[in-house]
Amino acid sequence: MCGIVGYVGKRQALPVLMDGLRRMEYRGYDSAGIAVMDDADLRVAKSVGKVRALADSLVDTTVAGTLGIAHTRWATHGVPSEANAHPHVSCDGKVALVHNGIIENYAELRAELTAAGHAFASETDTETLAHLVEHLMRFPGVTLADAVRSAVRRVRGTFGLAVVSTDYPNEIIVARLGSPIVIGVGEGEYLVASDPNAIIGHTRSMIFLDDGEMAVLNRDGYRVVSLENLPVAKHPENIDWSAEDAQKNGHAHFMMKEMSEQPEVLRNTMRGRIDFDAGNAVLGGLRDVADRTREIDRLIIVGCGSAYYAAQVGEYMLEEYAGIPVEVELASEFRYRKPIITPRTAVIAVSQSGETADTLAAIREAKMKGALTLGIINAVGSTIARETDAGIYNHAGPEIGVASTKAFLSQATVFALLTMFLGRQRQMSVTTGRRISEELARIPDLVASLLARQDEYKAIADKYAWADDFLYLGRKYCAPLAYEGALKLKEVSYVHAEGYAAGEMKHGPIALVDETMPSIVICPVDSVYEKTKSCIEELRARRGKVIAITTEGNHELDNLADDVIFIPKTLEMLTPILAAIPLQAFAYHAAVRRGFDPDMPRNLAKSVTVE
Ligand code: G6P
Repeated sequence: MCGIVGYVGKRQALPVLMDGLRRMEYRGYDSAGIAVMDDADLRVAKSVGKVRALADSLVDTTVAGTLGIAHTRWATHGVPSEANAHPHVSCDGKVALVHNGIIENYAELRAELTAAGHAFASETDTETLAHLVEHLMRFPGVTLADAVRSAVRRVRGTFGLAVVSTDYPNEIIVARLGSPIVIGVGEGEYLVASDPNAIIGHTRSMIFLDDGEMAVLNRDGYRVVSLENLPVAKHPENIDWSAEDAQKNGHAHFMMKEMSEQPEVLRNTMRGRIDFDAGNAVLGGLRDVADRTREIDRLIIVGCGSAYYAAQVGEYMLEEYAGIPVEVELASEFRYRKPIITPRTAVIAVSQSGETADTLAAIREAKMKGALTLGIINAVGSTIARETDAGIYNHAGPEIGVASTKAFLSQATVFALLTMFLGRQRQMSVTTGRRISEELARIPDLVASLLARQDEYKAIADKYAWADDFLYLGRKYCAPLAYEGALKLKEVSYVHAEGYAAGEMKHGPIALVDETMPSIVICPVDSVYEKTKSCIEELRARRGKVIAITTEGNHELDNLADDVIFIPKTLEMLTPILAAIPLQAFAYHAAVRRGFDPDMPRNLAKSVTVE
């Protein structure tokens, strides 16, 4: 969604800002803008569409200056337009501001400021803040930092902010409540961003603001205070991924690059975390809460999108092997329910970005009600990672493609580790633990063997390019995978796809089946094989085309399905990790064939930071 970048230092700000905007393009946006302090004059430029359009609009102008802020906007209040793009500027032209989040009481503030003589140029909620800061600075002795602090204290809603003023040409003020802000510490320079990827090329040393904090930055240093103006001691943390990790490395798309990385990602997720002899997982992040996790009698797992489906795979694993009752909830639903939580309930948030608004809100609700909160998070230092009591990092590296691939696989793998950890705290035998450990260790190579078969997946995607609707079916461990496969296809290729638990097929979707609606049936030889196989028979009886995914060596489906994709044999609980590979690849090739960019699907955002 929206992205913020800012710079103060000795270099020209514009190239740093434009580079930061480009690095945030993957998040999804519809317009972009910059404001650079040219001596004591603000140079503002905005453009609808891609960052490239903004760059083109600046080709014939010189924007000089060593301090500036910039933004990519994903429209919430008001259509994508130049007027609605950030930075927003006050009436006197002195204050410029970029904002992520939502000002819920903007209408009220706008009415008040209009009555006080301010003229508005956009339909956005954000613009009210620019005017409010200007308004407050008119009072004697009020500095820019004072005005920003007072302004945000009047706001109901969420914000990540960066503000500059020509009266303070060497300063950037940033503030955060519910929307991330990170400060990059360089040599004689400071950077600001809402996403570490925007500035990781300049420094790996970063300070993550917490909610209710703001910072004043200039070339010589930074000062962090609370919104009550009390000093806060913050220390830089080192980010362990590099700018190169966020490049395509010769692949046509990030999605393909990230799919190809999956064997290495899974090795990283598991590195040092398996004790083969003890048949257990070594999860350093849970060490301090191990006594509490032993006592847990109920788990609630929350997430959105692919993370939610990974959680459903985890549910089957945890119930079968750890014997703990598990509920998986959409974070957006959980936060508005009245969940029954006792001190022996653990709530686990699954989130690649660690910033998804609904997942964060769900964790806060759970915490307030006394649950043990845990995170399965990829982005180090992200809000959910910091707000949960304990957690497990995915170590999947930055995921740039909007549709999750490697993060999903890594999340399912973390659930297998967590299953061993919680299972071994309970009844799971060392033999079972060892069996899972050994099988997990084989998974990266099996994933690599599946990835090597792109031509086969592409040929199937080409063969079915005529279809406008797909049904995805799977049972037990593979039911969530049917949902995830269908999500992947619709996200990147815009082909309509529905994922169903195979047992539900007769309760509705079968009415849609004829020769125009193919089904992808995930049918490995597992404990429910015969049942899933009958679904294929039923689809065929209605002239439905079937692409089946089954286990190597099983040739029973050769004459039943139109196409068969074989995956290696593994433990039933780990099968979804393997079956995900052809599903991701099918979606990718379908998108590319249709001429779409799978990295930046229309209307979607990588990290959904508003409700
Ligand atoms: C968006 C992304 C999905 C992702 C979901 C949850 O919808 O497009 O790929 O699965 O958000 O994101 P999270 O960062 O919480 O895992």
